[in-house]
Parts: sequence; structure tokens; C-alpha cells
Amino acid sequence: MPSELTIVNPPPFPRGEDAIMTPLRPPAHPAPEPYRIRSVERIRLLPREERLRALADSGHNLFRLRARDVFIDLLTDSGTGSMSDRQWAAVMEADESYAGSESWFRFEAAVREVTGFPEVIPTHQGRAAERLLFEALLRPGDVVLSNALFDTTRANVERLGARGIDLPEPAALDPLDESPLKGGIALDALERALAAEPVRAIVLTATANSLGGHPVPLGNATAAARLAKKKGVPLFIDGARFAENAGLLARRDPSCEGMPAARIALSLFDLADGCLVSAKKNGLAHIGGFIGLRDAALAERVRQGLVVTEGFETYGGLAGRDLDAIAVGLREALDEGFLSARLDQVEAFHAALRAANVPVVCPAGGHAVYVDSGALLPHVPPSRFPGHSVACALYAEGGVRSCEVGALMFPEAEKEPHRQLTRLAIPWRTYTASHLDHVARTLGQIAAQRERLGGYTIVSAPAALRHFRAVLAPA
Ligand code: F0G
Repeated sequence: MPSELTIVNPPPFPRGEDAIMTPLRPPAHPAPEPYRIRSVERIRLLPREERLRALADSGHNLFRLRARDVFIDLLTDSGTGSMSDRQWAAVMEADESYAGSESWFRFEAAVREVTGFPEVIPTHQGRAAERLLFEALLRPGDVVLSNALFDTTRANVERLGARGIDLPEPAALDPLDESPLKGGIALDALERALAAEPVRAIVLTATANSLGGHPVPLGNATAAARLAKKKGVPLFIDGARFAENAGLLARRDPSCEGMPAARIALSLFDLADGCLVSAKKNGLAHIGGFIGLRDAALAERVRQGLVVTEGFETYGGLAGRDLDAIAVGLREALDEGFLSARLDQVEAFHAALRAANVPVVCPAGGHAVYVDSGALLPHVPPSRFPGHSVACALYAEGGVRSCEVGALMFPEAEKEPHRQLTRLAIPWRTYTASHLDHVARTLGQIAAQRERLGGYTIVSAPAALRHFRAVLAPA
């Protein structure tokens, strides 16, 4: 599908002509958000002793807390954002027909417009897209190369007996390296691996969630696509955060200066053979995902698996109302007003943590700020999970839920002290500056008393994706 065509047809909703149009540039003072809040949800900060009890009852695992015991929930930006009035209106107008519903056609049109892929396969979330694509593609012994596979993506590769190999840019492994575009794949390592390994696919995760939310630059993806093509290996974009990737490139990549985020996103997808997308992130919806492909024969193989395990090919495990919420959300995520406010909020939070003497991964990511907990707690070795220790302290002291991204989530990171992070993921359009100020102040107080924090040991844990369900105890 020629991408030029899709870009001259702007999304069928006002792109903020009555909103404050903020250029996609770093702000001196963030502009006010181009929206107001019309529905609110009560949250409460439990007394400290009740938080400590809740933490102990959860087996010191924040995934096992009751959400009502959390004051500010930065566990994830996945399915936790606020939908717009237009999304809720679309929910009410959805068509719940089993097959061939109008909601499906609106969804398919939105995915084609935003990604350019002609073949669209809906799934109930991102990991279902991963499972279906990899089942159609991978055999035991195959290798998947990536800048950085996320946890579920890696698990879906490995459960088929294939291997996932991360080849991040070296700059991405140094939290202090301020390079603005360090989310790509290391091209020399990619070339060597393509020559040496039985590579079946390349996945570029945009943004690189497990490294710090850094963007994959277009130049890097172009070079990777060229190497992939030479070897006849298909290239896929894990586009869970395709809009934030594009917005960060608009701000930081001179080759993208002046380009609308929608154009940049399309340019990235244009380089690939397909995409895997969790619509719970930049679909701005509470559930959903999809696969986009060019190859009709591969799409047919995937659809055969889809019908058996997810649902018919026009709903893929989703209700019509979900399809419609995503159709609107995908376009809103690329709306320059919404996207700019989003990136400004994350950047301002990053600056506030630095000002509070909290070591953070630099530069700011698109969806989250990552505390460099290995640097904050040098007395806690990776095998005692410093990232988890900071996450538990942040809940105990401030009622804030965050997520370890380190040796607990990725056991292979136990040898890498610089990869012991605590991720503070910001849901879209949900928390205000004063909420994030509370988080920054609490973390500043924790940092000032860092020597009081100890490590954790695992009491019990499942073999795969252990961080979700592990029971831990203070070491
Ligand atoms: N790819 C990336 C880059 C992700 O961050 C995630 C999920 C997935 C795929 C899987 O999508 O959750 O819809 O099945 N990340 C969430 C997070 C859970 O908190 O970062 P899913």
C-alpha cells in the first residue's frame, strides 16, 4: 500500500485545531495539556503501616498487590490510560456482529492508515500477536535477532524452541550516555549474527522498552532492513509504542525535523515486512493488539491459527467496542497535541527526578522514566535485585507502584549491574503534575537514605516470566 496516499487523507477527527498546538520539541516549561478532565476516579493513600502489611501479604511482589491499595500506579502504561470522549463515543456506536462488523472495517482502515500494512490481523493483546506470528514462522533452533526483545516477546520465541538474541547499541547499555537516539540495533553485530546464526526473523522494538524506552531511528532501521533483505530475512517492528517512537524522532532526529509524527511512524513501518502491536499502549485502549503484514500467504497461515485460538478474523478475541476504541486511539496517539503533551510530561518527570538526585537512565524514554537502581544501591548486587528493592521502597514510602526491569524480570541480566532498573511507566492522560511531583519527592527521600535499603531473595517462582508471580522476601 503506497504510504503517500494514506498521509494525504488525514484522520477523520479534528487534529487539535482548537487545541494548543505544541511543536514536537523539548519544552522549557511544558505547555498545558490540550484536554480537560471530565471523569475522575477516587484513589487513596493508605497509612504507612497498612502499606507495609499489603506489601508483606503480596509476597513482596507488586504485581500481587490489590490495585485499590495503590495510590499512584506506575506499574505500566499498558491498558491503563484514559480514553477520550471520542473513544467512548465510538464504544457506544460499536457493531457487535460476530463476523464482518462495521467496527472491524473501521479498525482495519485505521491500522492500514497508521501502519501501511495491507494485511491486518486482530488479536486480544500484543503477546497473542507474538504467539501467532512466531508459530507461523519459527522452528526449533531458529534465531530471532532484536535491538531488545520485551519479556513476553522473548518468552514467545523461546517456548517454540527458538532463541532470541538482543543486539542493542552499546550506548543503550550506559545509563549516563545522553545520546538522543540510542534505541536501535547494533549494525555491525547484526551483520555478524546474520552471517553466523540460523536467523529466521529480526524484530525491532520501537521504542526499546527493556532498555529505557529509547527510540529506534529511521537511519538505523533503514540499514537493518537493507542487511535483512540481503539475507532474505523478514524484518518486523514491535510497534507497541510506535507513536512515542515517532514523536521522539521528531524531537531528536535531525533527519525527521518538521515531519509530522504520523509520517515518521509510517516511514518506519514502510521499512518492515510486518508489525506486532499491543494496542494497550499506543492504541490508547484497555485491551487489544494486531499483526500487520505485506505477505498474503503468511497472513493466511497466521489467520488459520487465529481462528482456532483467538477468534474469527474480523474480531480476533476482541469485542466490537474494543476495535472501535483502538481505531480512534491509534490516530489520537499520533495527534501532535496529545503526543506532545505525553512526551513533555515524561520529560518533565525525568528532569524532576534528576533534580532530586535520583540516578535515571538518560535521556528520558517515551513512555517511562527508568531509575538506575544499580547505581543508586551499589551495595545491593544484581542477584539481590536492587531494582526491586527500590520499587518496594517506593510503595512503602509513597504508595507508588512501579516495576523492576532487571535481573528479576530478565534472569540473564544478573551479570549486568548497569541493567538493574526500576521503571516508572506513565499511563496516557491519567496523572497530573502534582501526582508525579509526589513520586519524585518520595524517590528523592529514598535516594537520600539509600544505605537503609537492602536486597531481596526469591522464595518461589515459576520458570517463565517469573517476575509476575514470584514470592520474595527481604534478604
Ligand atoms: N511488546 C512490547 C514492547 C511491550 O512493552 C509489551 C508489553 C508487549 C509487546 C506485549 O503486549 O501486554 O499487550 O501482551 N508491555 C507491557 C509493559 C506489559 O508493561 O511494558 P501485551
